[in-house]
Amino acid sequence: MVFLDKNNKFKQINWYPGHMFKSFKEIDKNLKIMDLIFVLIDARIPSSSMNPQILKSLKHKPTIIIFNKMDLANQINLNRWIKHYEDEGFACLAIDARNGRNINNIKTKVNELLKDKIERTLAKGLKIKNFKAMVLGIPNVGKSTLINTLANRKSAKVGDRPGVTKTAQWIKTNEGFDLLDMPGVLWPKLGDKKTGYNLAITGAIKDDILPLDDVVHHLITFMQKYYLKNLQERYSIYIEENTDFVEVLDIIGKARGTLIKGGEIDYERVYTIILNDLRSNQLGEVSLDII
Ligand code: G4P
Repeated sequence: MVFLDKNNKFKQINWYPGHMFKSFKEIDKNLKIMDLIFVLIDARIPSSSMNPQILKSLKHKPTIIIFNKMDLANQINLNRWIKHYEDEGFACLAIDARNGRNINNIKTKVNELLKDKIERTLAKGLKIKNFKAMVLGIPNVGKSTLINTLANRKSAKVGDRPGVTKTAQWIKTNEGFDLLDMPGVLWPKLGDKKTGYNLAITGAIKDDILPLDDVVHHLITFMQKYYLKNLQERYSIYIEENTDFVEVLDIIGKARGTLIKGGEIDYERVYTIILNDLRSNQLGEVSLDII
């Protein structure tokens, strides 16, 4: 994907570094022994955070799509996305892995999904062993948080640092399944600019990958269209849907006192304020993939 950088030079975005390709191979290798897969997506961006290849690659593995960070998403839009993926035949669940919300429902979903296998095992007079499961998702979607919450432990991030070699271990949960203590890191979706901006806005890709002014421009224009009131209320400002982007920055900058010498607005600071506010829910529950 090509973007114009700050100097108006075309910049090719490297969406999926080498270690992510390697990770995909790892995932494929581990897939065979799994009873089920949790595909974790960000409830605010259920389309942009879904790796399009993964659902095909999982073939017929029992899969639960988990919408994490439900605390940050607009509930109505989230419910529509859940219905969308359920209509495609996937089991779905929205959770907040950080605070443990709906975590208890994972076990129920797993038992529903593997009902036939459980019945077959019991019919043979055998005991049900813990199922083997793996958590997959793009960076920062909450894989480690989910694993740690399920395992009831506090531990270091286990995920996506390049060059970190770690022997995969199984961790037991009280949910009827064991988890591979090494989440599979998927590269984000290749695609349109909107997807890239959504990944940048939510922090799934680092702030220096895409030009920040473009990212914030996308966010502000989007918020003006779908969440105008949230912007107005957060900054106690009056703007309209079609207020010019620079004017919106000026208004927010003034409201926030980000003036630098000579009365100029410090736009970099305004960008940071807006992005931090969005990421910490100060702009309200916002969904960036509207369905
Ligand atoms: P990863 O393994 O998929 O890369 O993601 P990780 O668990 O490291 O989570 C990335 C960030 O998302 C962390 O925040 C984590 O706390 C946050 N997070 C995970 N699940 C949820 C959730 O359901 N709701 C919300 N609001 N946040 C969630 P961080 O600021 O990077 O780290 P920390 O300061 O919280 O430790």
